[in-house]
This record gives sequence, C-alpha cells and structure tokens, in this order.
Amino acid sequence: MQRLLLAALLLLLVTAVLLFGGGLWHAWEPPLRSPETPPPGVALEEAAAERGRRVFEREACWECHTRLGRDPDHHRDWWLLEPIPKLPPPGWRPNSLDRRRMGPDLGHEGGRRTDGWQYAHLFDPRQVDPASPMPRFPQLFETDAEGALRPTDEARDLVRYLQSLGEAPSVEPIPLPAELSMPGSLLAELESWHASLEERVEDEEGVEQLVRDDEAFEAAWAAFLARNGQPDLEPVRYTFGPNVRVNPEGLVALVEERDAEGQLRWPGLARGRETYTLDCAGCHGPTGLGDGPAADLMQIAGVHEENLPRNFSFAAYKKRSTAAGHLPLDGDLYTSITQGLDGSAMPSFALLPAVRRWELVAYLKTLSVYWDELDETLIWYWDVREATPLEVPPRPEDLGQNLRPGRILYERLDCAACHGPVTGDGRVLGRHRSASRSAWEDEMGRPVPWSRSFTEGRYRTGSRPEDVFRVLKGGLNVGPMPAYSETMTDAEIWDLVAFLLSLSRRASAD
Ligand code: HEC
Ligand code: HEC
Ligand code: HEC
Repeated sequence: MQRLLLAALLLLLVTAVLLFGGGLWHAWEPPLRSPETPPPGVALEEAAAERGRRVFEREACWECHTRLGRDPDHHRDWWLLEPIPKLPPPGWRPNSLDRRRMGPDLGHEGGRRTDGWQYAHLFDPRQVDPASPMPRFPQLFETDAEGALRPTDEARDLVRYLQSLGEAPSVEPIPLPAELSMPGSLLAELESWHASLEERVEDEEGVEQLVRDDEAFEAAWAAFLARNGQPDLEPVRYTFGPNVRVNPEGLVALVEERDAEGQLRWPGLARGRETYTLDCAGCHGPTGLGDGPAADLMQIAGVHEENLPRNFSFAAYKKRSTAAGHLPLDGDLYTSITQGLDGSAMPSFALLPAVRRWELVAYLKTLSVYWDELDETLIWYWDVREATPLEVPPRPEDLGQNLRPGRILYERLDCAACHGPVTGDGRVLGRHRSASRSAWEDEMGRPVPWSRSFTEGRYRTGSRPEDVFRVLKGGLNVGPMPAYSETMTDAEIWDLVAFLLSLSRRASAD
C-alpha cells in the first residue's frame, strides 16, 4: 500500500515536472553567451541584447520567427507558463505548414542588416519591402521634441538582440564586373530610349550635333499627368550643370510610354521600373533621388549614423571597377544589386532573377543625364567621363610579409587625419568621426559622419585585396575619401593594402 502511494506520488511529481518544467526552465535559463567575464562595453551590449530578447518574446515575434541554433526556447510552446502572447495582427493567417514558419529564421540575422535597416523595417516593413506581410511595430517608436521619429529604448535593445544572433553567411562570389554585360535586347532598348530624348540639329558651322529634346519631356509629362489624373500639377524641374534640365517625373513617365497600338515602347525598362517601385523606392525614393521614407531612420544623431541611400540622378557610385571620377560599368551596378554594399543598409538582391537585376541596371541608367554619353558639355562640366576600367596589376606574391612600408605610407599620406592615428601597438581603428557634422558630405551634401573602420574589415566595395587596391587608387566618387592614383605608385598602393588588411579582425574574403 505504502509502495503504491509512493509510486502514485512519484507519478504526480513527474507529471508536474513535465507540465511546468517549461516554466521552471524559463526561470533558470542559461545566459545568452558564454559565462566568461566580458570587457565592460561587451557586457553592456549583452545586457541590452538580453533585454531585447524579452521584447522579442513580449511582442510575440516568435509567432513567425525561429532563431535556429541560437534560440534556447524555440521548442517551447506558449501553453507552458509563458506570458500569454498578444493577439495576432489583423489580416494575419497561419500558413498551411506551421504558423511559425511565416517569417525567415533569424538565427543568422546578426550583421546581416544595419541598425538603420532594422529600425526602418520594424517601424514599417513595407518601407523596405512592400510585399512584406510582417506587421508594423509603431509602438516601439516615439516622436522627439522636434517631431522626428525615434526608436524607443526597447526598440534599441531589440535591435541589439537581433544583431547578437550569429554571423551572416558570406555572399557567393560572382564574376568580375568586367565579365558581366547587359543582355543585348535590353541594351538596344536603353539606347533607343536615350536617343528618343535627343534631336539632331546643325550648329553654326554646319556640323550635326545632338541636343536634348525638351519637347519629348513636355509630351511625356502631359501624358503622365493625363494618365494620373492631375492635370494642373506643375512639372518639377531640376537643374544640372549649365544647360540641362531634367524632370525626374518626366523621365519616369517616358519609360512607360506606349505606341499607337498600346504596346509599351520599352518593356524591359518598364519592368525595371516596376521592380524598382517594389524593392527600391522605399529607400531610394520614387524617382531615385535618395529620399525614400526609410531613409529617415538611417541617420539619428546619438543613436546610429549610417550612409544614406544613393541619389541616382548624380550617377556617382562607390562600387566601381573604373578610374576616379568615372561612371561605373554596367557590371558594377549589377554586382552592387546582387551583393549589396557590405556594412550599409543596401541589401543583397541575389534572390531576384538575373534578368530582373539587369532590368534594374537599365532603369537606373534612365534616371540620370550622366549616362547620356552624347551630352559633351555636361560631361566636361562635371568631369564625369565615360566608364574606363581601372588597371589592377597582379597582387605581389609576398603581400603581407612586410607591413612596415604600408604603415609609413599611412602616416606620410596623413590618412590619420580622417581614419585616426596609429596607436602604440601599431594598430589603427579606422572609424573616425568627422570634425563637425557638415565637414564630410555625400553626393547630395548630406553628412557622412564616420569614416570606415579597418578592424571590422567590411568594405562597401568588397574586402579582397584587389577591392581595397581599387578603392585606394580610384577613390569612392562619393564623400570625402580621396583617390590616390596620382599620389602613389601601384607598388606603394599594394604596401598600403597589406597594412590595412593586417588590421582586420576578419580573414580577408579571398
Ligand atoms: C505575422 C508574422 C510576423 C511577425 C509577428 C513578425 N515578423 Fe518579422 N518577418 C515576417 C516575414 C514574413 C518576414 C519576411 C519579409 C520581410 O522581410 O519583411 C519578416 C522579416 C523579418 C526580419 C528580416 C530578416 C532579414 O534580414 O531579411 C526581421 C529582422 C524580423 N522580421 C524581425 C521581427 C521582429 C523583431 C518581430 C517582433 C517585433 C517580428 N519580426 C515579428 C513575419 C513576421
Ligand atoms: C533598406 C534600404 C535600401 C533598399 C531597399 C535598397 N537600397 Fe540601394 N542603397 C541603400 C543605401 C543606404 C545605399 C548607400 C550605401 C553607401 O553609400 O554606403 C544604397 C546604395 C545603392 C547603390 C549604389 C552603390 C554604389 O556603388 O554607390 C545602388 C546601385 C543601389 N543602392 C541600388 C538599389 C536597388 C536597385 C535597389 C532595389 C532592388 C535598392 N538599392 C534597394 C539602401 C537601400
Ligand atoms: C578627407 C578624409 C579622408 C582621407 C584623407 C582618407 N579617407 Fe579613407 N575614408 C574617408 C571616409 C569618410 C570614408 C567612408 C566613406 C563613406 O562611408 O562614404 C573612407 C573610407 C575608406 C575606406 C573604405 C572603402 C570602402 O569600400 O568601404 C578605405 C579602405 C579607406 N578609406 C582608406 C584610406 C586610406 C588608406 C587613406 C590614406 C591613404 C584614406 N582612406 C584617406 C575619409 C578619408
């Protein structure tokens, strides 16, 4: 009898542990990272990440997101003494497999996106991806005294948590930009589009010249207004250089022009525009002027400060395999879209089919007059020359054996003025603040608050030795970082590349 009672008691105990174990486990759960005592800065980050994890749970992000490999509770279920999750957002429907598989796994989210991207996405996922079914989280934002939108402390903790979730897998190598070329039919379309904006006239000496046809703009603008039902809207005119006026809405309208039978005149460009509106306009703006709604959450003084989305009307690009001041190759733009710009909010669009990415390249080339090779005056005025590939000599075999010459060059050329001094132990952080917010500016005169970190080893233009060589020789064309093709010999540039790469905590992505 006693034994039976004992057995019954034991059974009860086991059942209780099974039932409430989840809750107990929750109370005792291990710290987020290894128990070694981390340095103070890291400890602060970890504390914020830990608080962020609670926000993640409270907001029921786990309804849709697993965190494989990083998630001590992804096997746990809500009925095990969890705080009751809030109701799913309106319009939310579980899918047929499992409601948790709605969103992508976040086990490798850390470092995949910048903080600015995360804030823009959290505030309204449709800003960065109009097709996203993820709900908005406006409750994690507030407006400050000046009426500007700011993430709350909870949102900042949540983003620290997302950034603590593992490293992003590296992007697959793709062919060199010079080996990539736009499909022929699309190229023909682009040329015919450019030609449609021009008129042949004879100058005083009887030489035939190509000039921009303003009437084509006016006609397209009228058609655009008629289609959009706003007949009294004034065309917005932007002035570039001495004699060229461009109307971005007009350009956009031209791309959608139809012939007498109602067929699109430039179907590839129109499809490019469609993809652009869906995937890019949230950041780069409806007409490519770098002024999409998500851009507002990318530079918040004292919180985080990032590069802002590019204004395509300037045709100034960082990621180029061409000489300083030159336009990029089509392959460069294709590579930027495919890989994104490492360390910035510009994401990779490798999942778009190749033809969609080429249509985007073609469409971007309709957004700026600089692609109009025939506009000699303009090219002269702005000194933006035709795309000429930059010579990169083969990498020396003993690269990295001797770091002294590179270090001496770093000091002699005063890189330190913008990237910080070499410290006592021979290191340089690289990430250095601009002396005043207005000192460094991008292509639009917006502030570039920071130079690049050398210890992170994440470069916009790529982290192979050849990529860093190209940046030092050809510069970035955007912002204050100069080109050194006139100042250094190729051998000296290689020395400096070796020194910079030796500072990186990451192995070079060779
Ligand atoms: C109703 C389901 C749902 C909920 C709830 C939800 N998400 Fe999402 N989330 C998605 C979907 C679907 C995507 C993919 C589309 C996109 O990128 O917006 C996504 C994408 C993401 C991404 C982008 C991953 C990447 O790098 O591409 C992050 C980060 C993210 N969610 C974080 C969160 C956080 C944090 C919460 C809670 C505050 C949350 N999500 C709540 C469905 C959801
Ligand atoms: C989440 C915001 C975001 C989205 C969405 C986005 N971009 Fe960007 N993009 C940026 C930012 C920010 C930069 C500037 C990065 C820098 O200067 O370091 C940029 C830069 C670029 C550049 C310039 C690269 C260079 O060499 O300077 C190109 C080209 C580009 N984006 C194309 C696109 C296209 C095409 C799409 C849509 C398929 C797109 N972007 C979607 C944020 C975004
Ligand atoms: C006038 C200031 C200035 C000087 C001088 C300068 N840099 Fe920079 N550099 C910058 C800024 C600012 C950035 C970041 C640009 C951005 O994010 O748009 C940068 C970026 C870089 C990058 C990263 C490029 C990428 O693809 O992300 C490297 C590498 C670099 N600098 C190396 C150097 C070296 C080496 C020197 C000296 C030979 C030097 N810089 C001199 C301001 C400067």
